[in-house]
Amino acid sequence: MCGIVGYIGEVNAKEILLKGLEKLEYRGYDSAGIALYDTSAQVVNVFKEKGRIATLRESIPSNMDGTAGIGHTRWATHGVPNKRNAHPHRSADGRFTLVHNGVIENYEILKNQYFANHSFTSDTDTEVIVELIAHFVQEGMEVEAAFRKGLSQLKGSYAIALIDSENPQLIYVAKAKSPLLVGVGNNCNVVASDAMAMLQVTDQFLEIMDKEIVLVTPNDVTIKTLQGDIVERAPYTAEIDASDIEKGTYPHFMLKEIDEQPGVIRNIIREYQDQDGNILVDEAIRSAIADADRINIIACGTSYHAGLVGKQMIENLAQIPVEVHLASEFSYNMPLLTKKPLFLFISQSGETADSRAVLVRVKELGYPALTLTNVSGSTISREADYTMLLHAGPEIAVASTKAYTAQIAVLAILAVDSARGKGMNPSFDLARELGLVANAMDVLCHAKEDFEAIATEFLATTRNAFFIGRSVDYYVVLEAALKLKEISYIQAEGFAGGELKHGTIALIEEGTPVVALSTQEGTNLNIRGNVKEVVARGANACVIASKGLEMDGDRFIIPRVHELFTPLASIVPMQLIAYYAALHRGCDVDKPRNLAKSVTVE
Ligand code: G6P
Repeated sequence: MCGIVGYIGEVNAKEILLKGLEKLEYRGYDSAGIALYDTSAQVVNVFKEKGRIATLRESIPSNMDGTAGIGHTRWATHGVPNKRNAHPHRSADGRFTLVHNGVIENYEILKNQYFANHSFTSDTDTEVIVELIAHFVQEGMEVEAAFRKGLSQLKGSYAIALIDSENPQLIYVAKAKSPLLVGVGNNCNVVASDAMAMLQVTDQFLEIMDKEIVLVTPNDVTIKTLQGDIVERAPYTAEIDASDIEKGTYPHFMLKEIDEQPGVIRNIIREYQDQDGNILVDEAIRSAIADADRINIIACGTSYHAGLVGKQMIENLAQIPVEVHLASEFSYNMPLLTKKPLFLFISQSGETADSRAVLVRVKELGYPALTLTNVSGSTISREADYTMLLHAGPEIAVASTKAYTAQIAVLAILAVDSARGKGMNPSFDLARELGLVANAMDVLCHAKEDFEAIATEFLATTRNAFFIGRSVDYYVVLEAALKLKEISYIQAEGFAGGELKHGTIALIEEGTPVVALSTQEGTNLNIRGNVKEVVARGANACVIASKGLEMDGDRFIIPRVHELFTPLASIVPMQLIAYYAALHRGCDVDKPRNLAKSVTVE
């Protein structure tokens, strides 16, 4: 989703901004732009283009540079992706230039209220912000006061960086609901939606809270409330290894991240278990779970699918009832809650607006909230009562892979720990079982040729595909179908094997690919029956089964792991099949069309 960068200092703003934007590409975008203050000509130049940052880079004259600038990657919400709607946006009087991430819900009202006779140059909700600030300055206000007054009129979400061409030694920054950080450098300071973008300059970052403004000059960062009171805050060190955000020898981040999964699982064991086998979970989290009469998992997309697997593990091991809700539905269709619910937010990025909206509501209602996230210090982590980190390292490909398996592994830890807390010690050694999962993942990551062959045989030209499974395999095939849809654009559906005959089987015709997953002894024969049903109607079936459950004709056998933890292993073939299907169809694997990694609008 939209990304923001800013730089103010002594040198090379152009290169720093473009490199910063490249680091934000993973969030998903459809156009990009930068505004640069040209010191010699003393003007702010704006460059923007539809499409990739490489196109933007080409459009900027090589002799163009500056000592201050702001940049933006746009993921269209208001107005189609084109050059006109791309950011930065400039006020009609030419004085102010602004980039924005978020959605201004009352932009039409503001336009009618303040600018009834003004013709806007874009279809965005953003342009009204920069006009509003210019308008208040034209009425005689100081810029900072106009900035604050402009912000106070906005309803919705925003992260903003603004340059005043009459005072280019200052970037005005603000946020509400959308993520934004300020980085503190040497004789320079930076602004970024994500610390990753500006690690090239500094690893010292300052959090900005909602409804604060920040005045950023080359040598100073001043945080203020919207009322103008100064806020003191120390920077933190962003602990991201720069090599984690490089592809290395891999052709795509997605493939690298799939291969990282065994290491991530081993890392999670190290982080959450000591050498004596004690699980390391905060006492406060333990008592919150012990006090709860029900856990409500709230998540979106892949994280929602991880939540479904988590429900199975927690209910099975700890006997605590769990409900799993899509965040975007929960907000507007809240179910009847029990007396003592605990809310468990699962979000790779920790920034997903749909999930955050539920968190805000849950906190208003006074219920405890625990966040499982990969990003410490992210909004959903900060605003919840407790956080458990995924320790998966940055995930760059839009299609989530290692974060999904990390979420399930941390949920497994939580499930076993909660079971122990209730005196129900599971009969297995968790670290050993997860270690076996990591080994199985290693084997699967080394079987890429098999999965490439499956992708070629079943998915090379098809328009649609079905994935079926039963019990926990059903949850895994939902994720398998999502992976394939996201990156290959094949219409794919994950289905409960037994439910297919109640309607959807009408879609099966000669050659329709159906991938069936069987990892559960209790449902092995049933899913085999469902495979027969679709084959009888012409489907091209590809069965992937766990060792011990295999039958003649199965296409791939997954190494056996504990039945509760099979989703950790069985998703790897599915991820790789999706990867090769997308690759062979010439799709942009890491940056699929229309998608954003971090969806910061509701
Ligand atoms: C977006 C991404 C998905 C992701 C979902 C939830 O839609 O494209 O890959 O699963 O957001 O993201 P989160 O960061 O909350 O896990």
